[in-house]
Amino acid sequence: MTTGRFARIVSVGSALPRRVVPNEFFEALVETSDEWIIERTGIHARRFAGPGETTATLSVEAATRALASAGWDPSAVDLLIVATCTPDRPLPSTAAFVQARLGMSCAAFDLNAACAGFVYGLSVGSAQIRAGAADRVLVIGAEVLSRVLNLTDRTTCVLFGDGAGAALLEPAEEPGVIDSLLAMDGTQAELLTIPAGGSELPATAETAATHGHEIQMQNGQAVFHQAVVGMAAACASVLEKAGLAGNDVTVVIAHQANARIIAAVGKRLGIDPARVVIDVAEVGNTSAASIPIAMDRAWKAGRLHPGDLVLTAAFGAGLAWGANLIRWTAPEPPGTGA
Ligand code: ACO
Repeated sequence: MTTGRFARIVSVGSALPRRVVPNEFFEALVETSDEWIIERTGIHARRFAGPGETTATLSVEAATRALASAGWDPSAVDLLIVATCTPDRPLPSTAAFVQARLGMSCAAFDLNAACAGFVYGLSVGSAQIRAGAADRVLVIGAEVLSRVLNLTDRTTCVLFGDGAGAALLEPAEEPGVIDSLLAMDGTQAELLTIPAGGSELPATAETAATHGHEIQMQNGQAVFHQAVVGMAAACASVLEKAGLAGNDVTVVIAHQANARIIAAVGKRLGIDPARVVIDVAEVGNTSAASIPIAMDRAWKAGRLHPGDLVLTAAFGAGLAWGANLIRWTAPEPPGTGA
């Protein structure tokens, strides 16, 4: 569809909790080691939320930074999407708290596509702008996964961290967000789940005692393999549809689950490793927050410039996955003197 009305990214922002949790923290809890975690995942440390820090507070911090970079007043936003699988509460949405704290009066909702949440959110926000249903959209990916970790399960507890990232979208005559691909294979829902606390298995003393409210992953190797295949296929598909090839891509920002997964996706696409952002070392896997955090850090580090072709790709519970093909349109970040 070419309508002459597209969406483009104006600015991004991110926020991480203050508490740094190094790999050594887990050595006292489970049979693991700093060396094993670094070798298998590339993760050296992650951030865990402290008292008073929640998905909503981190969202507000990330959004405030994105708004300040763009010079927008929060009242300018007419749609807020918070992608998260760790909401502050089951009801109301985390978006309700974020909207109130930012002093906005726009439509607002949560979106749960797990680790693919930001890719889904960017696609939905862009489509709302293209359809003329919204003018200025704030898309946030935010998680506090530390509060749903089973600290006795070494196969999951070492992987995740907390944080938030935000992106602002506005209408444009040329595409910023060129295209998106969203996918789901619900037959594999059991691979990665928090089984209790919903209508299927409401919270009881027993669900609490048996880790029912915490992340459970079956077969990490299968998740690894499908993540590589799914993200690479989604990227190849959006590139092909746009008549572009891997060589045209300036920067790949894949979901930051694991350095080996990200490197394998870049390799499958035949993209120079120097163009693939790997930012898990100090942050870990922050699920829906990982792409906007990595995007903000790459932007501030001078790795993203107007006109660059940026490819995002994500994969996670559901199994849900997808990709966005983006022409980078945010100006050089404030403070760079550019
Ligand atoms: N420390 C030490 N040993 C461990 C740990 C740990 N933290 N975790 C697992 N092991 C052990 C396993 O029990 C196994 O032992 P065994 O041979 O005695 O059974 C051994 O290490 C090898 O396990 P594998 O699963 O084969 O190790 P692998 O190299 O596949 O790495 C990992 C495991 C890191 C989980 C990898 O499979 C992975 O990253 N999978 C993707 C999972 C993921 O990222 N999930 C997050 C959500 S989905 C997403 O974001 C894409």
